[in-house]
Amino acid sequence: MNDVKSYIEKNKERFLNELIDLLKIPSISADSAYKNDVLATAEAVKTRLEEAGCDVVEICQTPGYPVVYGEKMIDPSLPTVLVYGHYDVQPPDPLDLWDSPAFEPVIKKTDKHPDGAIFARGACDDKGQMYMHVKAMEFMTKTNQLPCNVKFMIEGEEEIGSESLSWFVENNREKLANDVILISDTGMIANDVPSITTGLRGLSYVEVEVTGPNRDLHSGLYGGAVANPINILTQMIASLHDENNHITIPGFYDDVEELSTEERAEMAKAPFSLDAYKEALDIGDVHGEKGYTTNERNSIRPTLDVNGIWGGYTGEGAKTVIASKAYAKISMRLVPNQDWVKITELFKNHFESIAPKSVTVKVSPHHGGQGYVTPIDNIAYQAASKAYETTFGKTPIPQRSGGSIPIVALFEKELKSKTILMGFGLDSDAIHSPNEHFGIWNYLKGIETIPYFYQNFVALNR
Ligand code: BES
Ligand code: MN
Ligand code: MN
Repeated sequence: MNDVKSYIEKNKERFLNELIDLLKIPSISADSAYKNDVLATAEAVKTRLEEAGCDVVEICQTPGYPVVYGEKMIDPSLPTVLVYGHYDVQPPDPLDLWDSPAFEPVIKKTDKHPDGAIFARGACDDKGQMYMHVKAMEFMTKTNQLPCNVKFMIEGEEEIGSESLSWFVENNREKLANDVILISDTGMIANDVPSITTGLRGLSYVEVEVTGPNRDLHSGLYGGAVANPINILTQMIASLHDENNHITIPGFYDDVEELSTEERAEMAKAPFSLDAYKEALDIGDVHGEKGYTTNERNSIRPTLDVNGIWGGYTGEGAKTVIASKAYAKISMRLVPNQDWVKITELFKNHFESIAPKSVTVKVSPHHGGQGYVTPIDNIAYQAASKAYETTFGKTPIPQRSGGSIPIVALFEKELKSKTILMGFGLDSDAIHSPNEHFGIWNYLKGIETIPYFYQNFVALNR
């Protein structure tokens, strides 16, 4: 790629300002109060894709938020790369933990980002990473170096389960036909340790409700004699892990793909410091399934976690009460071969079966999706790996991530193509947390690396 570095150097102020403008729109898909902002973000993405050189750009209506579709088809005999990203973001709560407002982007230096990072909700997940592809496209079209066909599919419901995108993909298989799907919505190990994400975990997300007496009761008059739903719920939750931190739901591990000793040894080669990990999180020790390392626990092993729990009196002061109901939101991260629908069913049956007669239990599934593993012995992975070699001067390490992008498995099923996950974020970028940020170096490095993927992919396809 001719002059990609100098093109970025010349345009980097503009590249930053354009991203900052996108980050100012609060496209929170979970909260209907922000509907107009989500829609405005779709419009902004459309304009940016047109400016970057797409010949056709459409706002495609769906039952929910629209999908922004763009394409530049230069020659049907050449390969087609489909870029996926999302323009919606997580809610910024808790607001008081942000050092600057979530939708007023600021640039600050950090230990990990000495050149500065953009602080804003969506900076890394996923507006910043999605926009790298738009700017890489701009570079390739403006310098006449686009070597193949490109399609963009940018959705607005990733953070709430991609329901409308599933509908869109199922109904537009031909329009979306491609040779490879390219996504930047994950991370890498460190700026001097590039890695390519080769796996994502699946997900089953459920909500449980435990009901005891038909009304809230005086905890003196009734305490000790009737079941307290909060006590019962916490006992039930505690019983879901045994003393080795194995999940106790019968059948939960039946389909789990076990890695070979060689594969685990390969994984263990990735640089990792347990001390630095503990220090970054201010924890005295790590915690997890016996027999597995921290990196295995958070990528190749399934988990069960309470994401929220509530009930009873939580206001100021004390109120002596036994609540009628208690609730929890529970997520299970799944690994390849575990089917999320089956796991949801196993959870429901088990949770209902362990409830004592003194309460009733309701389990409501939210959403879920399958995990995904990218093969590394194919052209697409090699094209990505070589791209990093060119721009980072190092061969990237293949690494499975613990996060989920459930739609990736659906892409494979419906569009029959593999996905390459070229993520440029760091774990410390605080996605979904207060003070989310994205390194400027990472942003520009992404823009620099992506065009080499295209070049290599086309060359290797010949
Ligand atoms: N981009 C993330 C997923 C991610 C981040 C994967 C970092 C790997 C590394 C995505 O936006 C996300 O947050 N996914 C959700 C699932 C979704 C169904 C709400 C998740 O993983 O919790
Ligand atoms: Mn994301
Ligand atoms: Mn996310």
